Order: sequence, then structure tokens, then C-alpha cells
Amino acid sequence: MAETLYIPDTNKQGIYEALAPQIEALLQGETDLIANLANFTAVLKEAFGFFWVGFYLVKNKQLVLGPFQGKLACTRIPFDKGVCGACYREQKTIIVPDVSQFVGHIACSSLSKSEIVVPVFKNNKVTMVLDIDSDKLNDFDEIDKNGLEKLVQILEKTL
Ligand code: SME
Repeated sequence: MAETLYIPDTNKQGIYEALAPQIEALLQGETDLIANLANFTAVLKEAFGFFWVGFYLVKNKQLVLGPFQGKLACTRIPFDKGVCGACYREQKTIIVPDVSQFVGHIACSSLSKSEIVVPVFKNNKVTMVLDIDSDKLNDFDEIDKNGLEKLVQILEKTL
């Protein structure tokens, strides 16, 4: 298992590209889901310094907090609430440039200003979501969407 992460000194697209084979190697060496989710969030935190990055897992018809990096967070999100709930229902990545403008946004931290949530599929169903918060407005774009979706596809192969 790779013990150190290589983060090239380049733009974020280049960083996403450099992370893909490293995440692949990391996940291939381990079968435990929680261990893999924990390292997945650690890699993203280390590479990009995201304010908050973590998973919410589908359990008993709601989203329950899983491995994350960042400040204390809400533990349970109903499917009809929040950006995470919207991602679950719509089964697609959601970018929120300004969380104060998103009806139903759940503010786990008042410092969170923008957000991206990516669905993770297992057997064609959303089994968890990857949630990333920024303390800056409008911090996520199509490069993040594409980069994160590719990394999530690597995770999906292990589920
Ligand atoms: N903002 C999310 C809740 C989770 S926290 O951001 C960690 C939402 O609206 O679903």
C-alpha cells in the first residue's frame, strides 16, 4: 500500500489525474469498506485541503454519517432534506455555489459556503454520497465534478 501521497504542483485537473492511480492502488490493497472510505476522504483532504469531506451512507431509509475529515457534522439526513438528500433523490452530482441560496440546505457549520455532493452507486442504486464543503463561495466547478466522479468510479468498483 502506498503510504505517502504524491500531489503534483499543478492545477486541480492535474491533481485529480494524479490521484486516480494512487486511490486505485490504495483501495485495491484493502477489502474493508470503512477503511477504504476513511482513506478516500483523507486523500482528498490532503490533496485539496477541503473544509469538510465525507460520506453519508444509505441506512434504514436515511443518510447516516460515515468516515469524514473536518469538523463535527450532522449524523443523519432524511432523503427529503439537504443537498445530500437531493443528490440521493436525483442520483446525480449537485454543485451548490452558494449554500444560502439552496432551499433545504442543512448547515452543519456556519462556515460552509459552497458544496458539491456526488452519488456513489452499487447495483445501479445510490448506496452513499460523497459530500464536500468549502468555506469559500463558488469553490466547485465542472473540473471538480469530473475529477470526483472519476475517483468515485474507482471506489464503486470495490463495492
Ligand atoms: N450540507 C449538507 C449536510 C451535510 S454537511 O455539509 C457535512 C446538506 O445540506 O445535505
